[in-house]
Amino acid sequence: MHFPSPLTFVLTGLTPVHGLCTPCKRGIWQDAAPIPIAPRQEHTTVALSPSTLAILGGIVPSDSFYSTTDMMQLYHIKNNSWTSAASIPLPLNHANAAVVDGKLYLLGGLAVAPDGAWRAVPDCWVYTPNNNRWSAISPMPNGTARGSAAVGVHEKTIYLAGGMTTLDIPGGGYQDSVDTLISFDTHSGKWKTHLRQNLPEGRDHAGSAVIGSTHYVLGGRYFGQQGKRDTVFSLDLRNPDATWQTSPARMPTPRGGVSTGVFGSEIYIFGGEGNTEAGSNGVFHETEVYNVASRTWAKMAPMRLPTHGTSAVTVGHRVYIPGGGIHQSANPVNNTEVLCI
Ligand SMILES: *[C@@H]1O[C@H](CO)[C@@H](O)[C@H](O)[C@H]1NC(C)=O
Ligand SMILES: *[C@@H]1O[C@H](CO)[C@@H](O)[C@H](O)[C@H]1NC(C)=O
Ligand SMILES: *[C@@H]1O[C@H](CO)[C@@H](O)[C@H](O)[C@H]1NC(C)=O
Repeated sequence: MHFPSPLTFVLTGLTPVHGLCTPCKRGIWQDAAPIPIAPRQEHTTVALSPSTLAILGGIVPSDSFYSTTDMMQLYHIKNNSWTSAASIPLPLNHANAAVVDGKLYLLGGLAVAPDGAWRAVPDCWVYTPNNNRWSAISPMPNGTARGSAAVGVHEKTIYLAGGMTTLDIPGGGYQDSVDTLISFDTHSGKWKTHLRQNLPEGRDHAGSAVIGSTHYVLGGRYFGQQGKRDTVFSLDLRNPDATWQTSPARMPTPRGGVSTGVFGSEIYIFGGEGNTEAGSNGVFHETEVYNVASRTWAKMAPMRLPTHGTSAVTVGHRVYIPGGGIHQSANPVNNTEVLCI
């Protein structure tokens, strides 16, 4: 048998055949191309297609602390590179977004109010990749605007569970949590408020996934950093009379500001903030995996670069985690971390 020399092996291993190093071995972290222009935090990540990811909005460093951006950038998996796309119509952080039938729906988020606080706006838009254009769609129902919701897609409908309406950093950091469920039917273009399906407790900055027809809301927080949670809530989206269930299996490490990957019956919860252990910078490095079939938690390779305030997306056997903050509250980075699963 022929074994390649260690040098050949290293070179082969690092050749970006389809953008990233191959092979993709479960539990191995890799680096994809960093986000150009500016590091990013509190942005939203989606897969526009199996070959293109998008990051929307978020905050970037500026002369006056941080500013909220309207940038949208695309990551191309095949050539491991980024391009810019049409800006989102309003600078937003903690935006809610999802892709249905190849179109990108941006359903509100937090905008900078005149007093400098971040407050939820109900405005919604749809983006069509073919012509790189945004257009307005029905806003969220009166009184239900939110950012940082647990977003899930089932069939043609986008569900927004929980979220927050206010994050007032200049005013001392007050933040709230929402417990309501609303949904947007991309087919009819109409919103619905699910009056009987409030979450058992308000949540924002939570993990979120839909597997089969069940929406899961994992961890997150309740009224701020001190309210970090370890719960797993689930709702059967097929049954209009169903209510949220709380799994007896709690997330091993309670945290908010997490990002989420989904693969088969597994939900990966990455990083987050609210870590009070000395030397942690307030950021968690944990990767914890919930198996929805066995209702058990397992630990997996921790993040090499622990982050919070980002959002992840799974394509094939890889979870992509662009940007995020490496200190509690702030310090955005441009790194794009990838975990093979
Ligand atoms: C990413 O951030 C690092 C550290 O700040 C910087 O040196 C590098 O130029 C940035 N990369 C890009 C593509 O902007
Ligand atoms: C990567 O692919 C995208 C999509 O095809 C293209 O727009 C972009 O120019 C390519 N970038 C490089 C560096 O080849
Ligand atoms: C929205 O709700 C507010 C109170 O929450 C009310 O004052 C206002 O009239 C409502 N607007 C519409 C269009 O229903």
